[in-house]
Amino acid sequence: MSERIGIIGAMESEVTTLIPALTDHAETKIGIVVYHTGKLDGRDVVIARSGAGKVNAALTAAEMIRTFGAKAIVNTGVAGGLEETLNPEDAVIATDLVQHDYDTTPFDPPGCISGIGQVKIPVDPAMASAAAKAARELGIRVLEGTVASGDQFISDGKKKEWIRDTFGALACEMEGAAIAQACYLLGVRCAVIRTVSDRADGTADVDFPKFAAHAAALNAKIVRRTLQSV
Ligand code: ADE
Repeated sequence: MSERIGIIGAMESEVTTLIPALTDHAETKIGIVVYHTGKLDGRDVVIARSGAGKVNAALTAAEMIRTFGAKAIVNTGVAGGLEETLNPEDAVIATDLVQHDYDTTPFDPPGCISGIGQVKIPVDPAMASAAAKAARELGIRVLEGTVASGDQFISDGKKKEWIRDTFGALACEMEGAAIAQACYLLGVRCAVIRTVSDRADGTADVDFPKFAAHAAALNAKIVRRTLQSV
């Protein structure tokens, strides 16, 4: 049997098209998170809505790995585009991730994680290339590179530029780097697959509600196609 893969989305719209597609579906509630196990297109998976933010995401990833035996985690969801050519419904596949709000700058560079001594946490390169290929095959425009996560919804042009220019990041969201760090520390593979819902500037409060549900559903299609080849 193939290894179990965990799929984490923060919001309902990010997992809502995946859960009904499960066969042999079973549910386990731990804390306030419901873990859905079963087969997705024949692949053994555990799917959960973690809730937004880095703590929720890391906890859910750790639970999937330690309690449900996941050997890889895929983070699915939407993102704010930082790179200027990104528009809603373009995809961003992380090659590595940074926590833009991790700040011990009196001692270390911005984003440097104490105890690990790295700013960026890499993901599994084979999973990232499979995700980029899957998105292209679906006719979706894709950029591959750094994704920045933090416990903030970014909707300010100056903050957007700071994150993009400080870390060379293509997109921002609120969970990916925490999931990547949990996977890195627990020794499992990880991919962060995101579709742009807004441009993380003064237009984000209007665009996010307009595009998030469709972008999340599009992203779930990329995830399903990726799972067929990893
Ligand atoms: N997820 C989608 N858009 C976002 C934004 N602008 N900031 C943080 N997370 C997001």
